[in-house]
Amino acid sequence: MIRVMRAQITPAGTADIHQVLADHHRYWGKRDLRALHLSALVREFGETCLVARAEDGIHGYVIGFVTPAGTGYVHLIATRDDARGTGLGRRLYAAFADAAHRQGAQRLKAITSPGNAGSIAFHRRLGFDARTVDDYDGPGRAMVVFRRVLPLDAAP
Ligand SMILES: CC(C)(COP(=O)(O)OP(=O)(O)OC[C@H]1O[C@@H](n2cnc3c(N)ncnc32)[C@H](O)[C@@H]1OP(=O)(O)O)[C@@H](O)C(=O)NCCC(=O)NCCS
Repeated sequence: MIRVMRAQITPAGTADIHQVLADHHRYWGKRDLRALHLSALVREFGETCLVARAEDGIHGYVIGFVTPAGTGYVHLIATRDDARGTGLGRRLYAAFADAAHRQGAQRLKAITSPGNAGSIAFHRRLGFDARTVDDYDGPGRAMVVFRRVLPLDAAP
């Protein structure tokens, strides 16, 4: 019998971030984004930092916050290699959007590097506009900026 584990999305704690970092490659592959996993974000923006937990660990997570101007900013979102393509990234975004909206967010924003084709496709499927902005991250460092208004429709 194949047992399907549906992960529960709950607020993240700093121990969750350490667990994710121990298995970093399963969420980010060869890219090293460990330095972006700041405990301060989880401690200070607890309601908008979420993990999807199951019996076999953390299937995915989102770390984000709401800016004073009402933007729900997603700093990091990732699903574990064995949980991709199951709708979990969409569920995490929906949970983040709900939490951000409760804090007054009117829109969502995220960024990625121009080479991250998977992230660009994923965000477009979720209804984000994607624009490459030259020098976004410093001279010669373009980033793709995703924006969309809330509410976010969780259904595909
Ligand atoms: C990007 C990522 C979070 C997507 O998570 P996921 O759980 O696979 O996404 P979902 O299954 O919820 O997919 C949602 C939609 O996006 C589409 N999608 C997701 N990844 C895609 C990809 N690589 N290429 C094309 N479409 C994609 C799905 O087909 C789905 O469309 P549908 O709902 O209309 O059928 C995941 O691939 C990941 O963790 N990647 C590595 C980390 C990363 O790059 N994060 C983003 C940094 S900004």
